[in-house]
Parts: sequence; structure tokens; C-alpha cells
Amino acid sequence: MSEDVLRVSKIRNGTVIDHITGGHALDVAKILGITGREKKVITIAINVPSKRFKRKDIVKIEGREFNSQEVHKIALLAPHATINIIRNYKVVEKQRVKLPNLIENIIKCANPACISNSNEPVEAKFYVESEDPLLLKCHYCGYIVEKKDVLQQF
Ligand code: CTP
Ligand code: ZN
Repeated sequence: MSEDVLRVSKIRNGTVIDHITGGHALDVAKILGITGREKKVITIAINVPSKRFKRKDIVKIEGREFNSQEVHKIALLAPHATINIIRNYKVVEKQRVKLPNLIENIIKCANPACISNSNEPVEAKFYVESEDPLLLKCHYCGYIVEKKDVLQQF
């Protein structure tokens, strides 16, 4: 991007989720529960040119930081994302998202017959078989949960 073009403003305090796979910013917003009605300034850029990838999305949220469970949610949909914490216009922390080997209590199994979907007190648990494309294997029934299954739950 040439320097004479200001595509998205810098933020003062908050979080910039950068290097989201092109076209997935709205999915990331959705899984984080961001509706746009939070009275926070949010800027979303979709399919902007990127050096590292051909195109990327960016989500900037003023006045918010994310906990580790929320970072794991971002990693489910945007495995190459970078989370930048901004304070007083400076990047004070930069973190590549990373999924734990075991995903617990974030998503449900997409198999309706799975014991984790019954009334038993069993918490859903998955092994990460692949991050991109996303493939999560249910600890209980072996069902392979994909990105589209995750998106349906939010
Ligand atoms: N950013 C922002 N507001 C700030 C500071 C940074 O919106 N006050 C954004 C930048 O536009 C960029 C991201 O936060 O999208 C990370 O900033 P920076 O580390 O300065 O950029 P790069 O060096 O390009 O990041 P990387 O090495 O992760 O590609
Ligand atoms: Zn299952």
C-alpha cells in the first residue's frame, strides 16, 4: 500500500487483530460477539493488500483487550492472526495467535449424538488435528469439527 493512502486510522487504546485470512474479518467479529452496538469505535478492513499474504483483513477495536479464551476463538478462524495491544498509540504487545493442543469449553461437538451434547455433565473437548484448514477431533466421538461447524455455533 502506498504511503499516501490512509486506509484505516491508527487507534489510541485497544486491540488490532492483524493478518486475518482475507475475507474472514466478519467471522472473527462474530465469534468474539462483536455486534457493532457496543458503543466502541471499531474499524474493519477486508481484503487489503498484504506483504505476508496476498490479502488480509484487519479488525481494530478501541478500548478493548481480549482474554486467552477469546484469543483461542480468534485462532480457530484466523490461524495466522497477530494480536497487537495498543496503548497511547503504541504497540505495547504483539502476539501471534496459537491454538492449544486441546480445546476445551469453547465450542460444542457438531455430532448431535455425542455424549458431550447429552444431559451428562461432560465438557466438550477436542484435539487440534490441523489449524489451516481447521480440523478438530472430538475426544468423545471422534467427529471432525470444521470451520463451518464452528461458525454455526456463534
Ligand atoms: N496500529 C494501529 N494503531 C496504532 C498502532 C498500530 O491501528 N496506534 C496497527 C497498524 O496499522 C498495524 C498493526 O496495528 O496494522 C500493527 O502495527 P505495527 O506493529 O506498527 O505494524 P507492522 O510492523 O506492520 O506489524 P507486523 O510486523 O505484525 O506486520
Ligand atoms: Zn463428539
